[in-house]
Amino acid sequence: MLTKDLAVAINDQVVNELYSSNAYLAVATYMDTLGLKVLAGFFFQQSSEERGHALKLLHYLMSVGATVTIGTVPAPRGTFESVEDAIQHSLNQEITVTNQINALMGLAHKHDDYATASFLKWFVDEQVEEQASMNDLLLLVKNAGPHNFLLVEDRLLKTGKVSLAADPEAE
Ligand SMILES: [Fe+2]
Ligand SMILES: [Fe+2]
Repeated sequence: MLTKDLAVAINDQVVNELYSSNAYLAVATYMDTLGLKVLAGFFFQQSSEERGHALKLLHYLMSVGATVTIGTVPAPRGTFESVEDAIQHSLNQEITVTNQINALMGLAHKHDDYATASFLKWFVDEQVEEQASMNDLLLLVKNAGPHNFLLVEDRLLKTGKVSLAADPEAE
């Protein structure tokens, strides 16, 4: 059984992941307005993954019989100065989520809740990957310079991490 504060914190994390999902939708549509369809696709894909994280947390709450309350998701930032700014914002968001996950893990340990700690380990590992991949993208954009986004998109396509039809809803 989850302790009450852990149940509340995991419910809060559902909102945080949905916020991330919406933050990436905002970045995806920004990329699309610049005609950067591959970068847009990459962020649509990230957005779906974040929604997946929210669902994974929800299912955990249900599986341990905890109360699920879907909280209010704050609006994400909607305007960006540049491609670099939008990606820096995304990296900051990943760092924020890493801190949130670490705090959840800390709480699970504090309560000797090994089942929840074991469940949360997936998120700890996922954050290492997500932070690294966003950091790679930021470095790529910085190295390419302000007028070479098509090179960045080419490189992204070559990694196989994203395709032109990355919007799962479009398939
Ligand atoms: Fe996430
Ligand atoms: Fe993420």
